[in-house]
Amino acid sequence: PGPDARAGSALRPSVVAHRGASARAPENTLEAVDAAAALGVSWVENDVQRTSDGVLVVIHDESLRRTTDAEEVFPGRAPWKVRDFTAAEIARLDAGSWFGAAYAGARVPTLEEYLDRVERHHQKLLLEVKNPELYPGIERETLKLLGNEGWLDRRHLANRLIVQSFSADSLRTVHDLEPAVRTGLLGMPALADLPRFAQFADLVNPSHTSLSSSYVSAVHALTGPHGTTVKVFTWTVDDAATARAVAGYGVDGVITDEPDLVRHALYGY
Ligand code: G3P
Ligand code: CA
Repeated sequence: PGPDARAGSALRPSVVAHRGASARAPENTLEAVDAAAALGVSWVENDVQRTSDGVLVVIHDESLRRTTDAEEVFPGRAPWKVRDFTAAEIARLDAGSWFGAAYAGARVPTLEEYLDRVERHHQKLLLEVKNPELYPGIERETLKLLGNEGWLDRRHLANRLIVQSFSADSLRTVHDLEPAVRTGLLGMPALADLPRFAQFADLVNPSHTSLSSSYVSAVHALTGPHGTTVKVFTWTVDDAATARAVAGYGVDGVITDEPDLVRHALYGY
């Protein structure tokens, strides 16, 4: 079945494929988006950074080293930071072989390519602006590209796109630039700080490791910038027992490398 063919979007919690279906295919590649789609998973999460010549690309680490062959292709360019390479250079890298020979030739996608692939599968996107402090202006550039690609159309905004960040400053910038965009603050702020963040964050997205039902309830007691209850998507939940536990806390989303496992644990299919 295609995304949501069975679940619809009404089931709670939503299941979100972390960096795509990253237990099945190399993280943050188009192949990982395809793998999520093949599993019928509608939400994918990714990480956005910027090349030296200003192109937005989808990759998690600050360095190219772990998930590409940059070290072999560009010896002498240590420490292989994403921001020190042009888009053309990054396009030459193999971002799949580290994961498995079957994925040799997978690339680091540009955000534009990534959005096209998510759109092709009619999926939903949890877009993380990664390390925004390293990339001044990345919020505006990301929103511009989202707009150019049609992701800021009204029909998408309420239920198909969330922009998240560990940086409250970055998230506030996103909110100020495009107030209609739904935003998620990564981490687990102190209870006393939650009302302040609810001025610009529609979600608070903590690690599952210290999450509790009382924390989820405290977040749910807040009203976000769009007049709805502030939601909780938790990460990274890769086993059935934890998936059931966080669902019991009342979370709204479970971010996982193993979306099929989590869906089976929660919904039995
Ligand atoms: O979506 C939550 C999660 O992605 C945050 O941590 O390090 O995997 O980007 P990280
Ligand atoms: Ca992420």
